[in-house]
Amino acid sequence: MRHTAPLLLAATLASAHAQSSIHFDPTQHVWNLSAGAMSYVLGVNDHQALQTIYWGARLHPSATFPQPRQLPEAASFDPGIASTPLEYPGWGGGLPYEPALKISFLDGNRSLQLEFVDAKVTADELEITTKDALAPVFVHLHYHPYPEGVLARWSTIENRGKDTITVEQAGSATWNLPANRNYELSSLTGRWGAEWQLETEALHPGINVLESRRGSTSHQSNPWFAIATRGETTETSGPVWFGELGWSGSWRISVEQTHADRVRITGGYNPFDFAYPLAPGQSLETPKFYAGYTTSGHGEASRILHRFQRAEILPQRPSPKPRPVIFNSWEATEFNVDEAGQIALAEKAATLGVERMVIDDGWFGQRNTDHAGLGDWYVNPQKFPHGLKPVIDRVHALGMDFGIWVEPEMVNPDSDLYRKHPDWAMNFPGRPRTEARNQLLLNLARPDVRQYVFNWLDKLVSENDIAFLKWDYNRNWSEPGWDAVPLPQQKEIYVKYVDNLYSILADLRKKHPQLEIESCSGGGGRVDLGILRYTDEVWPSDNTDALDRLVIQDGFTHAYSPNLMMAWVTDVPNFLDRRSIPLDFRFLVAMSGSLGIGNNLNKWTPEDFATATRMVAFYKQIRPTVQLGDLHRLSSPRNPKDNTDSETSALQYVSTDGATSVVFAYLHSQHFGRPFPTVHLQGLDPAATYRLTPLDPDKAPGLATERNGSQLMGQGIDLALRGDYDATAIRLERTR
Ligand code: DGJ
Repeated sequence: MRHTAPLLLAATLASAHAQSSIHFDPTQHVWNLSAGAMSYVLGVNDHQALQTIYWGARLHPSATFPQPRQLPEAASFDPGIASTPLEYPGWGGGLPYEPALKISFLDGNRSLQLEFVDAKVTADELEITTKDALAPVFVHLHYHPYPEGVLARWSTIENRGKDTITVEQAGSATWNLPANRNYELSSLTGRWGAEWQLETEALHPGINVLESRRGSTSHQSNPWFAIATRGETTETSGPVWFGELGWSGSWRISVEQTHADRVRITGGYNPFDFAYPLAPGQSLETPKFYAGYTTSGHGEASRILHRFQRAEILPQRPSPKPRPVIFNSWEATEFNVDEAGQIALAEKAATLGVERMVIDDGWFGQRNTDHAGLGDWYVNPQKFPHGLKPVIDRVHALGMDFGIWVEPEMVNPDSDLYRKHPDWAMNFPGRPRTEARNQLLLNLARPDVRQYVFNWLDKLVSENDIAFLKWDYNRNWSEPGWDAVPLPQQKEIYVKYVDNLYSILADLRKKHPQLEIESCSGGGGRVDLGILRYTDEVWPSDNTDALDRLVIQDGFTHAYSPNLMMAWVTDVPNFLDRRSIPLDFRFLVAMSGSLGIGNNLNKWTPEDFATATRMVAFYKQIRPTVQLGDLHRLSSPRNPKDNTDSETSALQYVSTDGATSVVFAYLHSQHFGRPFPTVHLQGLDPAATYRLTPLDPDKAPGLATERNGSQLMGQGIDLALRGDYDATAIRLERTR
C-alpha cells in the first residue's frame, strides 16, 4: 500500500466551497468526505478492499473509525464479501450480489479481485486507484463532494495489460446503507403522457431493478431513487438516502437487500447487451452517480437536489438565468406552420408579455405530417418562402427572442437524407428496420453522422438569429447495429452514441454561447443529470391537462428543480383526456414551473387575453422565487397520507435569501362543501414580518396585509376556494 505525497501532507483539504471537505487519516487509510449536511466515510479493509464505513449525517472531522474489516463468512453459502459493504465490488470470489464491475479476459478468466493501490486528494476530488490482484486492470474510483450536500462518484477502468479485455458490466458506484429491515424505496415510473408517477414500496430481501434498456433515459423509469425509513420518514422529517445517475443512454440502478439485511445500490451502464472492449492502454469512464442524505424528509431531499442542479450541473451554473415566458406553436397549429400564421400568433403572444416565440415541428423539409421530412433540415419553401428571417425579424421587433424545434437524431425513411444514406440509420444488416412514429434512429456513434448533425445545426444557428432549440427525440432504439466497425466494437454503440450526443451539444454551446436548449423526448423521456449539463430546461410531459399536470409536476419535483420544468397553458378540452379546466386554474398550475403558453390565440376571447395578461404579469413578479427558490410541497395532489384525497393540493416557494415567498393553492374538486384546509406555511423566519399580496383578494377574505412568520406557519392561512378547479396564489415579501 502506498500514498502519493500530497495525501500525507494534509489531513483535511477543504474545497473552495466551504461546506465540502475531504479528510484523511494517514494511519488508518480512512477517508471522511463531507458534503453539506452529509458525511461519507470509506476505508481500506484487512483484505485490501475498499469498504463503506458510514453514509449519513455530517460528522465532525475529528471523528475516528476503527480500521474496517471484511465480515466473516455467514454460512458456506454466504461468503464474507457477500456481507461486507464493498465500495466497488468486482465480480469474483463467489460474490452472489450485483457487481459494480465484470470483465472477461481473453484466456476465459472472468474473475476480479480489486485491491487498494494508492490515493490522490485535491481540494475537490478524491481518486483511489485499485488493481486486480493478478491482472494489470486498474480501476480508479472518483469521489467529488459538493457543498450542496451531494457526493458524485464514478469510475475509470483502465487496461494496462498486453491483451484486449471486455468490460461486460460497468457500474459507476455501489452505495451501502446502514443495516435495517425497515426501508422503503421511492422511484419515478410512467409512460408517454403519464411520466413522473411516484411509487413507494417496502424493500425486502432480493433485488429491485430500476432501468432503461431503450437506448435513452426513458419515460418508464427515471434514474432517481430515494430510500427512507418506513413509519419514520415524512415529507418534512426523517432520514432519506437519495441519488440520481447522470446518463442519457441505457442505464440501470439495482437496489438490493442482502441476506444480512444490508441494502446496496449499484448503478451505471445497463449491462443488458453490453460489451465494451478495452485494447491495451485504453480505458472506459462510467457516468457520474450522485447521491445525498438528509434527516429532514423527502422535501429537503428534493431541495438539496434542486440547489445542486442549479449550482453545479446546469450549463448556466452556478446562477442560471430565470427561464423566459414562452409561446410554443405545437398544440396551436401542429404541422401547419407558415410565415403569416406564426407572425399572427407572435403578435398576439407579445401582447400577453411573452418573451420567447418558439416554432415547433413542421417548418422544414416536406414535413406536413409525421410521415416525412426528418433529416431534411432546410426551411420548407412553401411555408416560409422568404426563409425564417421575416418571422425572426418580426418576433424581435415585438420584443421577443426566437426559438425553433429540431429532432436531430432521427430520420424518416421518406426523406432525401435516408434515400442518400440508408446506412446511417441504426440497423442490423438484412433485418427489418422497426419504425416508430414512422421514423428511424440515426446512428450517432458513427463519426460521419455526428459531423453531419453538428454541421447542419451549426449552420442553422449561425445563419439565423436563434436563441433557443427545443431538441426532441421521439422514439426508443430497436435494432442497435453498427456494422461499420469490427464485430468486437459494435456494442460500443451504447456508450459512443451518447458521448457523441453530449459532444454535439457541448460544441454547439461553445460556438454559440448565447444559445439555450431544451431536452424533450416526446415529453419527459430524456431527463437526467447527464443531458442537463448541456440543456437549460426540459419538457416533462406531452400531457398538458392541468389536473394530470399537478401529479406529473409533483413527481417531477422529487428529482428535478422547478426552473427546469416547462409547463404550458393549452386549449380545452385537453387533447389527451378531453377535460375542460378554467383558464386561470390552468395558468396557476403552469406558473408553478417555467411558464409557457401553447394555446391557439386566434380563438381566444378578450376575457381570455385579460386573464392571461394578468397572470403573466403576476408570474413575472414571482418567477425568481418559483424557479430559483426552495420548494415546499405543502400538500401533495396524490398522497392519501396527506389527508387530501386529491381534493386539494398546495405548494410554497421561498427565495434562498428568505426575502420573498409564494403560495399556490389548488382545489381540484370540492365535495360536501368542505372548506379548503388551512394552509400552514413552511420555511419562513418565525420572527420576521411578511407583507401578503393575494392574486385574488376575494379568495383570501380577511387576510391581513402583514403577518408574522410564526403565525403564517402555526396558524396558517384560510382560503375561500369553491367548486371544481378553483385556485389562487399569494405573494409574500419580508418587510422586517
Ligand atoms: C413531441 C413533443 O413532446 C411535442 O411537444 C412536440 O414537439 C412534438 N413532438 C412535435 O412532433
